[in-house]
Amino acid sequence: MGLEDRDSVRILREAFEPGPGSERLVGEFYTRWFAADLTARDLFPPDMAGQRQVFAHAMRWLCDELIAQRAEEPVAFLAQLGRDHRKYGVTPEHYAGLQDALLATVRTTLTDRWDARLEEAATDVVTLAVGVMSGAGEAETAPPFCDGTVLEHLRPTRDVSVIRLKMDHHIDYHAGQYVSVQVPQWPRRWRFLSPAIPADPQGYVEFHVRSVAGGMVSTTILGETRPGDRWRLAAPHGAMHVDREAGDVLMVAGSTGLAPLRALIMDMCRFAANPRVHLFFGAKYPCELYDLPTLWEVASMNPWLSVTPVSEFDFDPPWAAEYPDNRPPRGLHVRQTGRLDEVVTRYGSWGDRQILVCGRPEMVAATRSALIAKGAPAERIQHDPLGN
Ligand SMILES: Cc1cc2nc3c(=O)[nH]c(=O)nc-3n(C[C@H](O)[C@H](O)[C@H](O)COP(=O)(O)OP(=O)(O)OC[C@H]3O[C@@H](n4cnc5c(N)ncnc54)[C@H](O)[C@@H]3O)c2cc1C
Ligand code: HEM
Repeated sequence: MGLEDRDSVRILREAFEPGPGSERLVGEFYTRWFAADLTARDLFPPDMAGQRQVFAHAMRWLCDELIAQRAEEPVAFLAQLGRDHRKYGVTPEHYAGLQDALLATVRTTLTDRWDARLEEAATDVVTLAVGVMSGAGEAETAPPFCDGTVLEHLRPTRDVSVIRLKMDHHIDYHAGQYVSVQVPQWPRRWRFLSPAIPADPQGYVEFHVRSVAGGMVSTTILGETRPGDRWRLAAPHGAMHVDREAGDVLMVAGSTGLAPLRALIMDMCRFAANPRVHLFFGAKYPCELYDLPTLWEVASMNPWLSVTPVSEFDFDPPWAAEYPDNRPPRGLHVRQTGRLDEVVTRYGSWGDRQILVCGRPEMVAATRSALIAKGAPAERIQHDPLGN
């Protein structure tokens, strides 16, 4: 029976259901694994709380897919996860150690329900996950990451940095995608960042980073990044795109959420004729609309692009005086005051548009809900996953 034994896979799935039972199981699994293989422990950051959650989530999702008798999606997901895991330095021995530790922990946790059927199903699920991940990792011939050198670090506002790099090799991504980034100040703390320009044949990349209060990596990037720093970038992800045949486009960008939308707009500049694009670019204060001069230049040469600046407050704080004057020449729409979700929906539902939203998770969720409440079809709204 094994993978087809839905009742047994269901029992395994329940063991990863959020709550104290699952936390204990996953905690014990990592303790057992790391006790047997210290080299595996070395690859993880010191705090494992987030990792325990994402691991349990991945196991639940995999079991759900198998219970629903779907194979294609889980295999594709695991293969991608295995290819991505190469950036951590994972070896086949690590997978073997994980398999032993996970099965031993599941067996001791579920003793009262353990029988030959559950043994077979649990073994098959874990073997599938480990087999597909390690097989895909070994089969991949592209390098797991690419290093590059920071050329420039600009500080257009108090909490935004623009970082320009030249990678050692050209990196291939579609405009609108995001990549996994490791900075030298925080080894093993990978974070997603979205390139703000389309892929460049010479390997130039630009990131816009906003510091998050209490954030580990973003605050360090703003405070400590210097020309000459070596950054490491891994495989691109994400599917945000503009379909040039699917009608006009609404883009909503909160602060550095502008980055992938800006890359998409720059990519569209290769074509003379494009669908109309209306971009709302928002921030808290007018001075934080850090990229308006560039947007003004692009819009002035591309009549299909219109830009509406939006700020929550109508005035600038005193610290604005220390930063570059971001006010563009006349030519963009008049700046609107209010939260992005309110301002954008003042103009209607935008239901006939392809809609792309990018920014802080709360801003994306609020804008998406407001648009749907106004009548925009949910399936027309694109955004990245809301969390690392
Ligand atoms: C698909 C994707 C693309 C991204 N692209 C960019 C980008 O181009 N530019 C950019 O600046 N950031 C981007 N991010 C966010 C980035 O990956 C980090 O999450 C962010 O920089 C915080 O990392 P940190 O280490 O400073 O904070 P952490 O130490 O990881 O977190 C500290 C606290 O901040 C909260 N937090 C985490 N992320 C955010 C956030 N984005 N907004 C508000 N609170 C948050 C956490 O819940 C936690 O409580 C992207 C995220 C995703 C998922
Ligand atoms: C069944 C096999 C495995 C599953 C389902 C799994 C799942 C995951 C998931 C979902 C993530 C978060 C997404 C990501 O960062 O890519 C992750 C991160 C990670 N995994 Fe795995 N993994 C497995 C095997 C392994 C193995 C064998 C290692 C070897 C040590 C490993 C090391 C890591 C590391 C270092 C991270 C990043 C942690 C961080 O930066 O916070 N994983 N894993």
